[in-house]
This record gives sequence, structure tokens and C-alpha cells, in this order.
Amino acid sequence: MTLRDLLQHRRAVRRYAGTPIDPDTVRECLRLAQLAPSSSNMQLYAFYHVTDKAVLAQLAAACLGQSSAATAQQMVVFVTRQDAYRSRAQAALAFERGNVRRNSPPEKQTKRIANFEGYYGKLMPFLYARCFGLLGGLRWLISRTIGLFRPMQREVTESDVRVVMHKSCALAAQTFMLAMAERGLDTCPLEGLDSRRVKRILQLPRGAEINMIVSCGVREGDRGVWGERFRLPFDEVYREV
Ligand SMILES: Cc1cc2nc3c(=O)[nH]c(=O)nc-3n(C[C@H](O)[C@H](O)[C@H](O)COP(=O)(O)O)c2cc1C
Repeated sequence: MTLRDLLQHRRAVRRYAGTPIDPDTVRECLRLAQLAPSSSNMQLYAFYHVTDKAVLAQLAAACLGQSSAATAQQMVVFVTRQDAYRSRAQAALAFERGNVRRNSPPEKQTKRIANFEGYYGKLMPFLYARCFGLLGGLRWLISRTIGLFRPMQREVTESDVRVVMHKSCALAAQTFMLAMAERGLDTCPLEGLDSRRVKRILQLPRGAEINMIVSCGVREGDRGVWGERFRLPFDEVYREV
């Protein structure tokens, strides 16, 4: 299938057939999902691939009994992991140090490494650190002050940072759904769920947040999707500037 075919084929599937699907295929699609871009390449997410029938049943109930969840063969819970910011920043820094040594001209290496140390060693920990909203307030003040004099990123409060992570996680989820479609497997993104219960079922740490659940399976004939697909006229959403 071309990308156009895949995009046409992917639908939010609300009812799956009883056909089992191979967990290895789903895992492979999650590896591909990791190729999605993420803000500052921090990759503050985790994918919980659920194959256990008992856990699937618990998750279906936490998804408010939606048929897409209740008939799913497997599910993937996409989770943001702000609490992992230190280790993810360190991993990115370690990689970039090596990247510079392998690929940059020798005379530029010291400066480039220093830039990465500032970025992943100081800026990212400052951006993702939380302290009852206080650090977000401090970041807001700094950003607004600098913004008086030059262009400055303004999405720095604690709630802004959550949006940043959810955007990147959702891109991974979409990449996963397209990879599944390429293999003839169906999915449905779900946010109609009780996030507290989902966190409890998966025993997630406090700092984790549910981004979305993607149910997985093979669509059940005509009942798999809810009829035709609705999209606004392109002119409603397109502006050439
Ligand atoms: C973030 C997100 C959350 C969604 N949550 C649900 C949901 O809880 N239940 C559901 O049936 N569909 C859910 N959907 C699917 C949308 O309703 C669906 O994508 C939309 O109607 C367009 O249909 P299509 O994907 O078949 O083109 C969700 C989609 C997204 C992107």
C-alpha cells in the first residue's frame, strides 16, 4: 500500500473480529513508533503493550465498556513519563556527545559538546522539573521577561510542558497506527477512559499520564467501522499565507 492507501484504509475501528494477532507484529510496530519525532528528542513516553486477557478485560471496563476496547485482541497504552526527564536527558546527552565525536570536525567538537551539555544538562532539567507549579511560574516569568526583547518560547508552565509531552506521545501513537495499517491490522485511538483506573491497573508511577489507549485487532467486516468517513471540506481547514 502507498502512504495514501494506508491513510485511506486506517479507520477508527469500533468492533474487532475474534482473529488473534501476533504480539511480535505489534511490538515491531511499536519499534517503528519510536521513529516519530519528539520534542527536544526527549522521548518522554512509554508504550504498555497489553496482551494478557485478564488485564485487557480490566482495561476494557476502564475504557467505559466501549466496544472497541471490549473486542480488542490487544491494546497499547501510550503514557507520558515526565518523571523520567533526568534519565532521558542524560541518555540524549550521552548519545549526542558520541554523535559529535563521530561526525563533527575536530575543531568544532568542544563547542558543540558544550552546547549539548547546556541543553540536556541544564535547560531540559529546568524545563521538565516540577515543584507544585512554582518552577513553572518561575519559567513563565523568565520567558516573558526575555520575550520583551527577543523571540522566546512561551510554553513553559507546568501545564504547557504537559502539552509538549502529549503532542510527542500522540505522534508516536499515530506512527504506530500507520505501521499497524501497513500490516493489515486495525486500531482505534481511545481517550474515553478513566485514566486513574488505567494507571492503577498498570501500576504506573505518579508522574506518568495516560496519553491514549490504542486498541488493536482485525476489523469485523462491515460492523468494524461506523459507516462512512466524515472530514470537513479542505477549504475549512486550509489557509495559504
Ligand atoms: C485522541 C483521540 C481520542 C479518541 N477517542 C476515542 C474514543 O474514546 N472512542 C472512540 O470510539 N473513538 C475515539 N477516537 C476516534 C475518533 O472518533 C475518530 O478518529 C474520528 O471519528 C475519525 O474517524 P476515522 O479515524 O475513522 O477517520 C479518538 C481519536 C483520537 C485522535
